[in-house]
Amino acid sequence: MCGIFGYIGKQEAAPILINGLKALEYRGYDSAGLYVVGAGCVKAVGQVKNLEAKVGDGLRGSVGLAHTRWATHGVPSEVNSHPHSDCEGKIWLAHNGIIENYGELKAELIAKGHKFASATDTEVVAHLIEENLKEGISFSAALLLALKTIRGTYGLVISSVHEPEKLYIARKGSPIVLGIGDGENFVASDPSAIVPHTKRVIYLNDGEWAELTADTYQLYDLEGAPIAREPQVIEWSVEQTKKGGYDHFMMKEIMEGDNVIKNSIRGRLNEETLEVKLPELDVVADKLKDIKRIIITSCGTALYSGMVGEYMIEEIAKVPVEIEYASEFRYRSPIVEPGTMIISITQSGETADTLAAIREAKRQGALVVSIVNTVGSTIARESDAVMFNQIGPEIGVASTKAFMSQVTLFALFTLYLGKLRGTIETEMYTKVVQEIMALPEKIKTILSKEAEIKVVASKYAKFDDFLFMGRKYTFPIAFEGALKLKEISYVHAEGYGAGEMKHGPIAMIDENFPTVALALSDTVYEKMVSNIEEIKARSGKVLAIATEGNSTLASLADDVIYVPETIEMLEALLAVVPLQIFAYYIGTGRGYDVDKPRNLAKSVTVE
Ligand code: AGP
Repeated sequence: MCGIFGYIGKQEAAPILINGLKALEYRGYDSAGLYVVGAGCVKAVGQVKNLEAKVGDGLRGSVGLAHTRWATHGVPSEVNSHPHSDCEGKIWLAHNGIIENYGELKAELIAKGHKFASATDTEVVAHLIEENLKEGISFSAALLLALKTIRGTYGLVISSVHEPEKLYIARKGSPIVLGIGDGENFVASDPSAIVPHTKRVIYLNDGEWAELTADTYQLYDLEGAPIAREPQVIEWSVEQTKKGGYDHFMMKEIMEGDNVIKNSIRGRLNEETLEVKLPELDVVADKLKDIKRIIITSCGTALYSGMVGEYMIEEIAKVPVEIEYASEFRYRSPIVEPGTMIISITQSGETADTLAAIREAKRQGALVVSIVNTVGSTIARESDAVMFNQIGPEIGVASTKAFMSQVTLFALFTLYLGKLRGTIETEMYTKVVQEIMALPEKIKTILSKEAEIKVVASKYAKFDDFLFMGRKYTFPIAFEGALKLKEISYVHAEGYGAGEMKHGPIAMIDENFPTVALALSDTVYEKMVSNIEEIKARSGKVLAIATEGNSTLASLADDVIYVPETIEMLEALLAVVPLQIFAYYIGTGRGYDVDKPRNLAKSVTVE
């Protein structure tokens, strides 16, 4: 989730570009750069202020583009930060998204003599336009040809010495917003960077591109046909625009759920061949064939994603798995025998307990593979292989979109491992892949019930104690749902395996102690119904999460929230979404800042 900003007008571009990047820094950054037409390009690792210090007032000019990078491929470095250029430094561009076929395009261009400076996918686009220009066609025709050649997603802003009085922008899968000023135009990845200059904006749609001058703009489709579109006026404050119009990052990130799945599988699941590819694991593939045991170790929500992964891996890949709280692992003299693999999961990549756990495991000779959202983080660097989430930074302290991505990557890893070890039938493999591809639409269906879930939450807002119970693939979701509620509403909530009710917890149940029961239509549904009946027999209120089409629970539970059907192995990804929204509305209903809950930090870098 990088930040893009462009300016074309009559003012000095460099300070406007720097301030534009600062407005986008909340989206995550590890490096930044800018290019001013006729003056040159400056890049810097770290915060935008490092770039600002480097630029000083040395870049004079009134047209330029800039970029803050949140690395998904290639470590954070000056050479990998944007803008990128062609061989001769005549075409400069900044990019958001992933060019999926950049490998083959780069090889073709190198064969034609192009010299590449970076390890990024983005740089391919500049060389592609340069190569197309050799046909003697216009710049816009060369750009259009390039846009039709690349596969994947892009939000692009492009400048060329061939047409120094113009900027080009293009969008497919990564947002690009055009800000219409008076004698000047602005471009950004989201309106929060534009609002300080103008509130008149045009959102490009996928497959659209535009040509800008200081005083004009013209949109086109990929066939080159002009598109007429009037600007709309943004009503939001700057702060609200950073949250996409939501009151909190947490809700914005919950609402990204469908795109989180798409971004997590991007470049890893071929929708034509239904093949899962994890090239980042090829370096350890031989070892994965021979592992005898997997230890999954992490903290909090990340560990709960690992608990889902445990069930997936044992069911499909037939490798023994055990779950370890990272905060316990290194203190309890663990035995890590040869052939053991550690999987750690971490959004920040800096959690002290998780880092200590993988260091102890490595000391004992274990192979360490991690699922990490932050490229360049300590745990990413100390792992033998890393699967990056590719979902942009998670700002809200309560982990929501990261959890969705972590479970999705476990599903992909399970298929990869099962195929590698020959433990999964082709029919099952294909079925799971198809169901993964169907997840984004199913999650959108649940997200569309936000208002309904808000009403249900208001019915339970008065309670100070909650039990969350689930079984099998929703067993971890009982813990995750309870944690979400605890950490943003400070309400006492216990996650439990439903099978444990009779061993003690049911003693707590009465009319003041409601239960959230995860009762999806799966192999343990009947057992869950029995547990719900036990709760009801003790005057306990029950909010059930059920599968669409279930006609029983409405008469048994006090409230039911329905989620679409999917295979049991993936149901955790649907069951958790209502619980995220439920927790959000209980927490906001109590007047708390759910993005920054008391006593909590986004990354726990201390033991
Ligand atoms: C989850 O909502 C919490 N913020 C917390 O449990 C978090 O998942 C845990 O601290 C692990 O953080 P990490 O993913 O950055 O390692």
